[in-house]
Amino acid sequence: MGSTIVLGDGPLGRAITATLRERGDAVEMCGRPADGQHDPVVLGRADVVVDASRADAVATNIETALAGGAHAFVIATSGWQADVDRVAASLRRAGAVAVAAPNLALGAALFLRLVGEAARLAGALGGFEPSVLEWHRRTKADRPSGTAREIVRRLSTELPIDVDEVAVLRSGSMPGMHIVGLDGPSETIELRLTARDRSGYAAGAVAAIDWLQRADRVAGIHPFDEVVDELIASGRRAATPALQPAGATA
Ligand SMILES: NC(=O)c1ccc[n+]([C@@H]2O[C@H](COP(=O)([O-])OP(=O)(O)OC[C@H]3O[C@@H](n4cnc5c(N)ncnc54)[C@H](OP(=O)(O)O)[C@@H]3O)[C@@H](O)[C@H]2O)c1
Repeated sequence: MGSTIVLGDGPLGRAITATLRERGDAVEMCGRPADGQHDPVVLGRADVVVDASRADAVATNIETALAGGAHAFVIATSGWQADVDRVAASLRRAGAVAVAAPNLALGAALFLRLVGEAARLAGALGGFEPSVLEWHRRTKADRPSGTAREIVRRLSTELPIDVDEVAVLRSGSMPGMHIVGLDGPSETIELRLTARDRSGYAAGAVAAIDWLQRADRVAGIHPFDEVVDELIASGRRAATPALQPAGATA
């Protein structure tokens, strides 16, 4: 395995770093740089740079790493939608590749597909109103969560719902819970996704790192779904230690 630099020393950055170390990868974790910018030479030495920092740091972090010669990224940070076009253009100019997803857990990837299918069926049948509730720890920076935004994006292709309608709970230490409701005339369907710890996010980040290193990929930003599609197609799960339950918690 190659070397990885994880940008971000919060619960997620620590979980990803612990999972990589557990399988023997060379990994370095960097928190917020004292002068606001990382050293491009240091970042350029990594085979993969993982961003698990803050929304307002993503574009600068990626561009600094690109300036140092880094060419593969996993962007785990959420809430940086405003900079997506800028980052995508920078990556393409440099011929570099990123996997980006606000939720890198495999269960979440399956959940999002179930939500899409439920929306399609409910939309076809008619009479169902969608709702989304998300609950995270009090200190989570963005609201609603990136996962909730993605849920709304998938629901809204079939049903009337806007991101402003997401109900947000911030309390305690919850690593992430999302409930999607479909309210019909006489019954309610609920789909619920609950993260018990951050090991699922970390395992997904490792799967994305491996995907980046397994083959040459087209320059630009790739959704995590492409990683998941490849895992499903190859039946790789059983053989991938990163996707077994890991001890990495926040
Ligand atoms: N994709 C996924 O599966 C997934 C799962 C969970 C969370 N997330 C998202 O991932 C991000 C990180 O999660 P978290 O829970 O660890 O958040 P967090 O508690 O806010 O931690 C982020 C850490 O990054 C540091 N940081 C700020 N600027 C930085 C920079 N330029 N370079 C490196 N580090 C920097 C922060 O330092 P300061 O405190 O000094 O700012 C903080 O210690 C959040 O956006 C979160 O929503 C994604």
